[in-house]
Amino acid sequence: MDKSILWKLSYGLYAVCLMDGQRPSGCIVNTFFQVTSGGVVAVSMNRDNYTHSLIEKHNRFGVCILSESTPARTIGALGFFSGRDKEKFAGLDYRMHEGIPLLNEGCCGYLILDVVGRYETDTHTVFFAQVEDAFAGVDIRSMTYEYYRSVIKGKSPKNAPTYGV
Ligand SMILES: Cc1cc2nc3c(=O)[nH]c(=O)nc-3n(C[C@H](O)[C@H](O)[C@H](O)COP(=O)(O)O)c2cc1C
Repeated sequence: MDKSILWKLSYGLYAVCLMDGQRPSGCIVNTFFQVTSGGVVAVSMNRDNYTHSLIEKHNRFGVCILSESTPARTIGALGFFSGRDKEKFAGLDYRMHEGIPLLNEGCCGYLILDVVGRYETDTHTVFFAQVEDAFAGVDIRSMTYEYYRSVIKGKSPKNAPTYGV
């Protein structure tokens, strides 16, 4: 099997955002996609991610669609540390929307989602969710995973499905 073929898959880059009690938390994902024209989407979330436990707890989360102007420090803060150990939103510009923290800087759109189902793999849960609200951010190109790797020279940590790919 030639696993390098997986390099040909294309993705965007997103911040999954939600509250942990009184503090905002969440993480970066590339595995977020639309499933149906009726507004069902899905995200693949590693069960070791703290965000996984928060999604299970609330069954509701926000997704910020990152753009090419998203600062690298935002991806660094949310994608390489755990909310178990760190105030991940400290130093990030955000606002509250219907109980969900949303990043202000460099997002081209936002979704508010309710979990409607799940599928378990050996490491990740694929959460299916219904879009309850959607609105625009800055009018700029969304960030693709390819842009993140080739222009920003970003990497993927252990819990990302693209780790090692
Ligand atoms: C570019 C990038 C893509 C990522 N994609 C995913 C993903 O699709 N699914 C996932 O579970 N983790 C993904 N991650 C890893 C999580 O963002 C990371 O493990 C994070 O530290 C989890 O934080 P938490 O413990 O606060 O939830 C990605 C990270 C980066 C930087």
